[in-house]
Amino acid sequence: MSHRRSLAGVWSQRQCARPLRSKVRAVSSECDPFLREHLDDPYPFYARLRDRPEDFVVVPERGVVLAARHDVARTVLRHHHTYLSGLGVQWVPVADAGLRATFIENDPPAHTRVRRAVQRWCTPRAVAQLDEAVAGVVSELVDRFVAVGGGDVMAEIARPLPLRVMGAWLGIDLPDAATTWADASFRLGAPDPPADASEQFAGFLHWALGEGFATVRPDGMAAAILAGGDHGGLHDDERFVALASIIIAGLDTTVHLIGNGIAALASNLDQFESLVDDPDGRAAGTVEEVLRFDAPVRFFLRRTDAGLTVVVLYGSANRDERAFDDPNRFLIDRDASEHLAFGSGIHLCLGAPLARLEGTTLFRALAERTASIELLPGSARTDSAAIRGFATLPVRVQPR
Ligand code: HEM
Repeated sequence: MSHRRSLAGVWSQRQCARPLRSKVRAVSSECDPFLREHLDDPYPFYARLRDRPEDFVVVPERGVVLAARHDVARTVLRHHHTYLSGLGVQWVPVADAGLRATFIENDPPAHTRVRRAVQRWCTPRAVAQLDEAVAGVVSELVDRFVAVGGGDVMAEIARPLPLRVMGAWLGIDLPDAATTWADASFRLGAPDPPADASEQFAGFLHWALGEGFATVRPDGMAAAILAGGDHGGLHDDERFVALASIIIAGLDTTVHLIGNGIAALASNLDQFESLVDDPDGRAAGTVEEVLRFDAPVRFFLRRTDAGLTVVVLYGSANRDERAFDDPNRFLIDRDASEHLAFGSGIHLCLGAPLARLEGTTLFRALAERTASIELLPGSARTDSAAIRGFATLPVRVQPR
């Protein structure tokens, strides 16, 4: 898609896109991705959006337009001078939220400065120093899971793994409740948040402002962020939110990479067997294909100076038949590298190397230690409009 043509499309549709209202009334639109009926299985609905001739699909009831195709979504993400993040990438614009997420809700030059302040700890090479720590946590969780023949993947592996790895990386003891806080925070960034989300998120602030950030270990990344990051790049009023943003961004997302991945492998046993044949060679590709096939983050927004709000649907872009052959099949050997599950452009996920390390180590260990995996009845998707994943995922496994 040419950038010029995409903009022309937006401007011609602008009269339909009313300004975002802070209080959204009940809607029923054939183009509304946030309707409950689309959340459990959004992919047929996304396909209908991509089939429409326009680049941006207008949802008048919500005051937004949708970027559903891969080329449109990538263009929006990469043209950060037009499609701004500093006005807010979550449902509530920054001006109304009273708080700005330090990395993702900034534009250059502030964004460049804050990202540089923490980049050193987030590179693949820096994160590789956690290899052993991640392998230790994975071994403990997977061995226990396999020894008892399986259980709820979400409770036994998907939630504890990122919690413990993030704790080790940051040098901070994260309580179990942190995954619930992260989930609540993402829900607050989506339309129609549930009534208890604010209260749950308040638990995070209470903890962080109290015992949480007061007890960070002096040699860890959290301490460095609270001290201003590399070369003191973070201003005083940015340090707390920077650390909070990283904790929130790193938990709920990775939790659902793991849950969605195990569900996809258990539903596609030929792919599981292919991974078992070569865990070392195929675990990293499995992570990329899971991210493409079932992206944990449903959307972020971009806003323009002219008042347009664009919802970037990562999961829809990743199933675009123009970008991927046979996109509805889960194939761990495919080249999924063009997926947008981590975003693209200057806001490309800062934690991607860590999430990849966690996912690769886990899928490899699972394939090495289990002979079979079987989905049991009782699994349930979460009802989050922001994150796509499972609330419970019972499986049976047999040891190798
Ligand atoms: C599978 C796991 C993960 C997924 C699917 C994911 C997804 C995303 C997405 C979609 C974005 C926004 C990109 C954009 O708007 O263009 C993002 C940004 C971000 N992510 Fe992740 N993320 C994951 C794990 C993590 C982890 C483990 C961390 C931290 C340790 C993290 C920290 C961040 C930060 C700080 C940003 C903002 C970067 C910026 O604005 O410059 N994420 N992530």
